[in-house]
Parts: sequence; structure tokens; C-alpha cells
Amino acid sequence: MSSMREPMPMPAPTSLPDPEPSRFGYPNLGYGIGLRTTHFAHILENRPPVDWFEILSENFMDTGGRPAHILEQVAERYPIVMHGVSMSIGSTDPLDREYLRKLRALAARVKAVWVSDHLCWTGVLNRNTHDLLPMPYTEEGLRHVVRRVRRVQEILERPLVLENPSSYVEFKGSTLTEWEFLRRVAEEADCGLLLDVNNVYVSSYNHGFDPVEYLLAMPHERVVQYHLAGHTNLGTHIIDTHSDHVVDEVWDLYRLAHKLSGGRATLLEWDEAIPPFEVVHREALKAKDHAEAALPPAAAGSVKAKAKKPAKEKATAAAAAKGQPRVAV
Ligand SMILES: [Fe+2]
Repeated sequence: MSSMREPMPMPAPTSLPDPEPSRFGYPNLGYGIGLRTTHFAHILENRPPVDWFEILSENFMDTGGRPAHILEQVAERYPIVMHGVSMSIGSTDPLDREYLRKLRALAARVKAVWVSDHLCWTGVLNRNTHDLLPMPYTEEGLRHVVRRVRRVQEILERPLVLENPSSYVEFKGSTLTEWEFLRRVAEEADCGLLLDVNNVYVSSYNHGFDPVEYLLAMPHERVVQYHLAGHTNLGTHIIDTHSDHVVDEVWDLYRLAHKLSGGRATLLEWDEAIPPFEVVHREALKAKDHAEAALPPAAAGSVKAKAKKPAKEKATAAAAAKGQPRVAV
């Protein structure tokens, strides 16, 4: 790996299906994958033509040595986006100022194009569950999280990009749907969205809602990035394992989402049973084919009309399919 330090220009994005930017002006970076330890040597030796990498912020915040050195080299050659799992924006614990300070420093160091985390809470009373837990979708919860997002954005001096979580339980006390809550958080806190299309599908399966209704309700001008991933379907419910190829139903939803937004940076997540680099990269590049296959904007109206089924029909179909959502695209 002696040639690692040779300067190399950043690769041109694989394709930009539609250059229309989000309201934050963030670029469509093309099709990226997560930077994972198991692929470090391959990336440094082969310099694969990946459009961009997403790093898990916490993996690099407190570490020096080899990981930091490798990240530095990768960041010299590829655009980097930071994705965190520990902000706990929905918790009632005070915001962790030290964590935010480190996050900001890392973002400056790797010239992160944007910084994201999840709309969730990970613990309370200083106890970390190490799970991304869904919030109660209430007006009180909304006011709480909006206040915190605004504060985080002041500290980071940049828009925060929030991802919809996958979930397995819901609060009985919720008075808003997840998509209403997510939309209002984004609009009232003036933040960006990372729309995880697989998470929409997983949660729609687990809770029996219509994923198309979810996508149609998004403020697409605020969507900065998409996530795609494989999951594990156990019949009664789906677990968001990031351990497999993306399923057809998620690709259908991705095409619809892509069409509604006009094209956004897309990231393929693969975090368990991680296959060789080429397999992960090929899966990410499938997104390019699906994005290009998305119907032109003029035809989007017919998709919207098709997706708007009467509530009763949706409920019946959902029950008949044991919660399996049908994607009308
Ligand atoms: Fe995700």
C-alpha cells in the first residue's frame, strides 16, 4: 500500500439523475456506500470509483491511530458524509455538549458535506439502551424535539439532517402519524431529512401503514439523502438488519421517492454479514438504474392518484396481506 499517499482527484459522480438541489443546496453526490473496516484495505489499494462514503460518526470521534489515518486518506479522495447514532435528539436528557463539540470538530476535519442522525432517543437518565427508539408522536414531543434540533443546529452551525427510524413498537399515546411528525419536525426546526426507504417499508410492514402514503407526505425539498438496505423478514415482522440485498418492494418505493424529490444522494447500507466490497458497491449502483427508470415528472401525477386508495380499502388490503404493504408504482 505504498502508493496510498499519491494525490488523486475526487471521482466524478456515477450519475446525477436530476441536479435539482434540496432547499439546503446540498449536492446530489450520486451513489455511495458506508465506509466499513472490513473494506479499508480494498479501498486504499484499489481506489474504487465510488461516488462518496458515509462514515459512522462515533467510529471516528474518539479514535486516533490507524482508523483516523485511513479516514484522512479516504477523505482526501472522496466526499464524506457523517451519520451518527448517539445524538439522542428525542431524549429528555440534556443535550450532550461534549458529544456535539466532537461531532463538529470531526465534521470540520473530514470536510463533511452534511451531518445526519436519527429521529429517535437512545436512552434516558444517562442510561444508554444502544437502540434507536421511536418517539411518542405527540404535539408535546414535537415541540421538544424541534427545540433541540434548533439548538443542535446552532452548535453545529449547519442544518442537521434527520433520518426516519425503523421501529417495532409504537406509543399508544401518539396523536400524529410518523410521517406527519417527521414532516412537522423538518419544517418547524428547519432541518433536512435523510429518508431511509427501507425503514419506511420495515415500519409499514411492522405497523400496517401504507408506505406510499408516507412517501407522498414527505416535504421532498427537504430530503437531502436516501438510505437503502436489506432486511430480515420473519413473517410476523421485519428486522432492519442491513444484512442482505434490497428487496423489490423497497426498490419500488425508492423509484417513487426519487421521482418525487427530483433526485438525491443515495447510500446503500450493509452492516451485518458484510460481503466483499464489489458486492456492496454493485448493490449501490443498482440504485442508479432504478433512479433512471423512475417515471418523468409529468407522469408522477398518475402515480399519486393510483397510490391514493380509500382508507377502508387500504386497511382491508393490509389485513389480508398480514400487514404486507403493496406499493402502487
Ligand atoms: Fe438508515
